[in-house]
Amino acid sequence: MDAKPRLAVFCSGNGSNFEAIAAAVKKNKLRARIACLVCDKPGARAVERAHRYQVPVVLVNPKLFSSRKDYEKFIVRVLRNQGVEVVILAGFMRILTPHFIRAYQGKILNIHPSYLPQFKGAHAIRDAYEAGVRETGVTVHLVTEDVDTGPILAQERVKIRPSDTLASLEKRIHAVEHRLYPAAITAFLKSTPFKKIK
Ligand code: GAR
Repeated sequence: MDAKPRLAVFCSGNGSNFEAIAAAVKKNKLRARIACLVCDKPGARAVERAHRYQVPVVLVNPKLFSSRKDYEKFIVRVLRNQGVEVVILAGFMRILTPHFIRAYQGKILNIHPSYLPQFKGAHAIRDAYEAGVRETGVTVHLVTEDVDTGPILAQERVKIRPSDTLASLEKRIHAVEHRLYPAAITAFLKSTPFKKIK
């Protein structure tokens, strides 16, 4: 096994953040290896993107498991087998249970499309837009057992212009995400004394 830390990227849908990370890895701007994409939705565009970057896909349908715990136990086993050290949530729209979080304690990153602690939840861009506020943002944070509240690793504000539509705001937020997430992962990997997770 090589010396680069091994990441698993988790997605449920489009996968544009996955692609930004995969592109940074390919250019060696992000010194890591993507061991696999974990996806819970068979038709997700993220799967296509992973094929393009020759990243192995672990497609795990939660409906085939009798409980969330069994589902997550299975994923943890797969990640261990692949030597995964860090979990990168990139639009993975399922809440992880303490079982999973404890298995990768302090090594799970998430990106959220708001300036946390404002606009937590699954519709953060729309919620900020509809609230009529002047700015929102993007946050990269460590995942803890409380949703959208872990220690913040990187944050950037995004202004909401009077002329913005929801679509134009989403586009600008995503552009910030695609820059901020690879940079935040790079900084995290540099600051973390790497020891294989057993
Ligand atoms: C991203 O905007 C990400 O911040 C958001 O889902 C989108 C996924 O886009 N995540 C959350 O809202 C988590 N609460 P992508 O699939 O194109 O990367």
